[in-house]
Parts: sequence; structure tokens; C-alpha cells
Amino acid sequence: MPVIAVIGAQWGDEGKGHIVDLLANRSRLVIRYGGGNNAGHTVVNEQGTFKLHLLPSGIFDPHTVNIIGSGVVIDPAVLLGELNELQSRNIDTSRLFISERAHVIMPYHVMEDKLQEQARGDSKIGTTGRGIGPAYSDKMDRVGIRMGDLLHEQTLLERLRAVLEEKNRLLTKLYGVKPLSLHDTYLRFLEYGRQLADYVTNTHPIIHRALQRDVPVLLEGAQGVLLDVDHGTYPYVTSSPPGAAGACQGAGIGPTHLNSVIGVYKAYTTRVGEGPFPTEVQGPVADALRQIGKPWAEVGTTTGRARRVGWFDAVMARYAAQINGIDTVAITKLDVLDTLPEIKICVGYKLHDAELDYPPTTVAVLSQVEPIYEEMPGWQTATSGARRFEDLPEAAQAYVARLCQLVGARLGLISIGPERDQIIVVSEVL
Ligand code: IMP
Repeated sequence: MPVIAVIGAQWGDEGKGHIVDLLANRSRLVIRYGGGNNAGHTVVNEQGTFKLHLLPSGIFDPHTVNIIGSGVVIDPAVLLGELNELQSRNIDTSRLFISERAHVIMPYHVMEDKLQEQARGDSKIGTTGRGIGPAYSDKMDRVGIRMGDLLHEQTLLERLRAVLEEKNRLLTKLYGVKPLSLHDTYLRFLEYGRQLADYVTNTHPIIHRALQRDVPVLLEGAQGVLLDVDHGTYPYVTSSPPGAAGACQGAGIGPTHLNSVIGVYKAYTTRVGEGPFPTEVQGPVADALRQIGKPWAEVGTTTGRARRVGWFDAVMARYAAQINGIDTVAITKLDVLDTLPEIKICVGYKLHDAELDYPPTTVAVLSQVEPIYEEMPGWQTATSGARRFEDLPEAAQAYVARLCQLVGARLGLISIGPERDQIIVVSEVL
């Protein structure tokens, strides 16, 4: 049985939740492997519309076990809020397990994130302000607090005492803000631990058993690989590895178990936050892509920020496929292009006199490239009613086929609306 990773293959917000929601139906174990509540998935299914930030999308399926993996950073208040919301709408959350190894986002992480951004001024990254970067920094610095620590009074107190002393020096001396109380913070996080105790466990045996029994496993990504801390548009990136390697690392599954990597690509490109975006557009095309006021509106689920929009960038898309071993493409939001008379695809970058078919490493150089566009005719027909590939207008079929050819992977799925039945399965993926 397959183990597949579903990863965002652009700058995040590709509609992964929608794809994972469909595939979760066919899997028995869904593992969210990285990021934190900087992510936001809107899931629309027969039970309603849900905005998830931390919970794996398989949570709605009564047969699926869901794991928040070791690579995730968790704000316990946000997680409890999400659990309460689902429980109040009669969704059973008893099949959720949270890795003891996952790190906790502490209040000083959120403060540091916001204060660092303020201090950066014009060179700010445009983070989501959720404390993600500082939480991952502390993990690497070996001063993080893990979910398992919240269940052990003594460990929590000792670790918190040590780290808070240093954090309070930073908050008061560098940023001139009030220190955090050890007593209050300790009691608050101990209480979170108490409330989450039934879910927090060593997830390794569960995952290992699932692999041994050959059940279908889905590794659910957050963010997108162009935000990867190693391979993305650094420093305008997140602080984790959102790609296929990160999936293995964050879930605790060896790479030889992976059978397929599905790259989720929007039929165009969006980005939130700062950083280079070669195919970004303004004006009427941007308005058409942004879909304000419609269910697909390009507004961040987490921050409510309007997303920057642009044409499909096949240079970036192919790079994303190459560094992650993407073998299957899921194209989302194809219907957003329905009204456009012509559609552009960036097939190369012009840099002075040179033509590049890969993105340059540094943002200073990437910001200078000019996209080389190929134009394809639009279809100017509604596609949202299509249920098979053949139902799509020929121009839409040709567009999707061209994207896959440029990416260098087979076509798996196409979404043409936010409902679960608006995903066309072109080739079986799970
Ligand atoms: P952070 O992850 O909050 O540190 O933000 C770093 C960068 O990643 C910013 O440009 C964010 O806008 C972007 N980012 C983080 N998470 C997401 C996401 O889920 N979708 C899109 N962009 C994201």
C-alpha cells in the first residue's frame, strides 16, 4: 500500500487541504509533518466549511487515524480552539495523536516574531506573526519545550525556568518590553498539557505499525517548497522544510517508504508576504485571479492578507519538482482562469543577455530576472461542472497538459471548485 506525500509546490496556499481531504478518504493514516499555525487550510465537505491550522485534514474521516508529527510546532491554545470548534460541530476527534516530540510555540516566540519583524523595518519578511521562526530557532538551539514536556511538571518547570531567564533578558534589554512571569507561564502551559494529555503520545509505534501492516499513509504538507528554509527564496522563507524530505523527517518515516510525491500547484501563482515573485501581475488580470468576494478569494486563511498573484511560473514549478522528486501533479483552481481570453506561462527567465531555465539562488539576482512568456488561448467557458478530463474545454486540457510537460511529472488531479466532487481524478494516486 502506498505512502504518499502531498506537498505545496509553490509559495503555499496551493489548495493542499482540498486535495488531502479527498485523499484522506482513501487513506487510513494522515500525518501532518511540519509548520504550525502559520498554515491555514479551508476544507469544504458534507459536514460544512472548516478552517484548519494545525489539525490534519483526515480528521473528518471516521476511519482515519490522524497524527500531528514531530516536525510540527504547536501553539496549544490554537490547537485546543480548533479541537473545541470541531467537537462543538459533532466531529469526532478521538483518532488524533500528537507527537511528544513536537515543539511548543511559547508566548515569547510570538513576541519575538513580532518584535523582530518591527525591527527589520523595510527588510521585513512578512511573517505570519505566529512565532514560527523563533520556535524552530529554539528547537535547533536545543532550548525548545516539547509537547511531552507539558505532561511532566518537573521537566516543564526546569526547562521553562532556564529558557525564560534568557528570554526575559532579551525582551527587556533588547526590545524594552515587559518580562513574562515564570509562575503564570508555567501554570498556563501545564494546564494546556492537562487538556491535551489524551492526545499526546509517542507516535513512532503507531506509524511503524501502520507501515508494517501496509495501510495507505498520507503525509500532509503545509506551506510550499519555495518557502523551504534551504531551497526557497531565502531569507523570504519559513523556518522549516515543507517538501518531501521534510515530510520524512517531520513524520519520522524513512525516505525508502515513500511511493509517490504529489506536488500541488495552483493553475497560476500566489504569494503572501515579502520576497521576489517574477511573474507577479497587477491590474485587471490580477483582479480576475484574486476572485475577491468569491469562495476561492485569494485572501490568506490565517492572516486575512490579500495574496499577491501572477501567472504560472514553470521555472519555479520545475525546480520545485526536481528538488522534491515530485512524480504527480495536482492542479488546483483551474476554474479561476475560466474568463481570461489569453493565459501566460513563464517558461524561462531572462537575466541580462542570458536565458535561465532554473531560478538563481540569491534574491537580489532573482529580483532582476524578466519572465519569458508563452501564451496559450483561454477557454472562456465555465469548467466547474466538469467531472472528467474529457469534460474540460480543449484549451483547458491543453493548458493543463502543457503545465505538466513543463513541470516534468504526470497529471494526477485537477480541481475546478471548492467542493469535494469538484476534483477530477485523472490518474489514480492512492
Ligand atoms: P512564517 O512562517 O510565519 O515565519 O512566515 C515566513 C514567510 O512564509 C512569510 O512570507 C509568510 O507569508 C509565508 N508563509 C508561512 N506560512 C504560509 C502559508 O501557509 N501559506 C503561505 N505563505 C506562508
